[in-house]
Amino acid sequence: MALPSPPANLAAPAAVLLLLLFLAGTASAANFTCAAQGSTCQSAIGYVAPNATTYGELLARFNTSTLADLLGANNLPATTPSTARVPAKATVRIPFRCLCAAAGNGASVVGRSDRVPVYTVQPNDWMDAIARNVFDAFVTFQEIADANNIPKPDQIGVGQKLWIPLPCSCDQVLGSDVLHYAHTVAAGETTSGMAAKFGVLESTLVTLNKIADPKNLLQGQILDVPLPVCASSISSTSADHNLLRLPNGAYALTAQDCIQCSCSSNTYQLNCTSTQGKGCPAVPPCNGTLKLGQTNGTGCGSTTCAYSGYSNSSSLSIQTTLVSNQTTACQNSGSERSEFSGSMWMMVAISFHMVLILICFL
Ligand SMILES: *[C@@H]1O[C@H](CO)[C@@H](O)[C@H](O)[C@H]1NC(C)=O
Ligand SMILES: *[C@@H]1O[C@H](CO)[C@@H](O)[C@H](O)[C@H]1NC(C)=O
Ligand SMILES: *[C@@H]1O[C@H](CO)[C@@H](O)[C@H](O)[C@H]1NC(C)=O
Ligand SMILES: *[C@@H]1O[C@H](CO)[C@@H](O)[C@H](O)[C@H]1NC(C)=O
Ligand SMILES: *[C@@H]1O[C@H](CO)[C@@H](O)[C@H](O)[C@H]1NC(C)=O
Ligand SMILES: *[C@@H]1O[C@H](CO)[C@@H](O)[C@H](O)[C@H]1NC(C)=O
Ligand SMILES: *[C@@H]1O[C@H](CO)[C@@H](O)[C@H](O)[C@H]1NC(C)=O
Ligand SMILES: *[C@@H]1O[C@H](CO)[C@@H](O)[C@H](O)[C@H]1NC(C)=O
Repeated sequence: MALPSPPANLAAPAAVLLLLLFLAGTASAANFTCAAQGSTCQSAIGYVAPNATTYGELLARFNTSTLADLLGANNLPATTPSTARVPAKATVRIPFRCLCAAAGNGASVVGRSDRVPVYTVQPNDWMDAIARNVFDAFVTFQEIADANNIPKPDQIGVGQKLWIPLPCSCDQVLGSDVLHYAHTVAAGETTSGMAAKFGVLESTLVTLNKIADPKNLLQGQILDVPLPVCASSISSTSADHNLLRLPNGAYALTAQDCIQCSCSSNTYQLNCTSTQGKGCPAVPPCNGTLKLGQTNGTGCGSTTCAYSGYSNSSSLSIQTTLVSNQTTACQNSGSERSEFSGSMWMMVAISFHMVLILICFL
């Protein structure tokens, strides 16, 4: 099959492209480390649509999730229609599946969206404009070219399909699972401001992104923001084990849309309920009678019936498990995740400041 001919007015873009190739070192290619080769998980980018658009159009542009998951990632009402307009300049969280894999020919392991989004080249498109204007510079044209094995980025044809490798990671941060969220630094934004806005430690932002000088953040720079996610009781054998990474405020459907889970910063414990959708199996209660989401007792001695996964070998079945009160104030004897990670974050913050003080003395 012959490739469609490239656009006729290619000369000017090609000249600019050469210039950009020359300047490529300054492009804001995001560098998300993703050491756990072969791992997959949920990630997201904070996308600001360049033009007036609808949630349905964004879904089609990215095609990385269902409408329900896009709405859930943005904490929008589940009844929002796909034709609803995205408010001007609003940042929309686009959830997608991340895969940590070698970038090719023995290169280092990087995190990239797993073979999506796929962009179809339009007349008069050129790769740098696609990277910058359509995908908000979350990728560089060079990364698109490398991912698609295109030796000459100035030679793409109308109708050609390009995989856009969005940056992401599945790595734990300070011993905890997080949702790696790619954030574009806006004019005037500071590391302390972003840390407060996203609920992460400033020192974590700085070290994770290897920021040499927090005062010298560049507008448009892409940062890896490790959003804390709700802990869950989902078993490691369940298909949604790594995919249900929900930060504060987010919700998502799972178990083939039969279960809806949400995450609130009150408990940072996943709270799941049955959607009672058509064709959904009955959810087994915990300990005989306690229904999914229900709590028995009060205070630290209370127990809650939590979602623990699903399987779909012959038919869909949903599992539940009884969990004790996970509120930080109730956690003792050291087995609990959030207290452990909380103290870890604190330790790292203290060490970071100790190092700073030492440097001042030297
Ligand atoms: C990304 O990482 C690679 C390899 O570690 C490095 O060569 C490159 O300069 C980095 N890019 C940016 C923008 O930091
Ligand atoms: C999204 O991708 C699926 C296949 O993964 C395809 O069937 C579907 O048509 C795509 N939707 C859009 C709007 O591109
Ligand atoms: C946004 O609008 C401009 C002007 O109408 C157009 O050139 C550009 O292609 C649009 N971008 C996208 C991503 O639709
Ligand atoms: C869990 O979610 C349900 C419905 O969304 C809500 O009524 C309930 O209060 C939540 N439970 C907790 C412990 O947050
Ligand atoms: C489970 O049910 C049994 C009998 O109904 C009861 O004695 C026990 O306290 C329950 N366990 C919890 C953790 O609620
Ligand atoms: C609730 O807790 C009480 C006391 O611990 C226990 O007797 C009862 O069986 C529990 N109910 C359920 C449904 O587990
Ligand atoms: C867990 O215990 C705390 C502290 O006693 C209490 O405020 C909270 O309501 C309890 N949570 C549940 C789900 O019972
Ligand atoms: C789950 O099972 C149903 C019916 O048994 C089947 O139609 C469906 O394709 C399965 N889904 C997955 C993801 O395996």
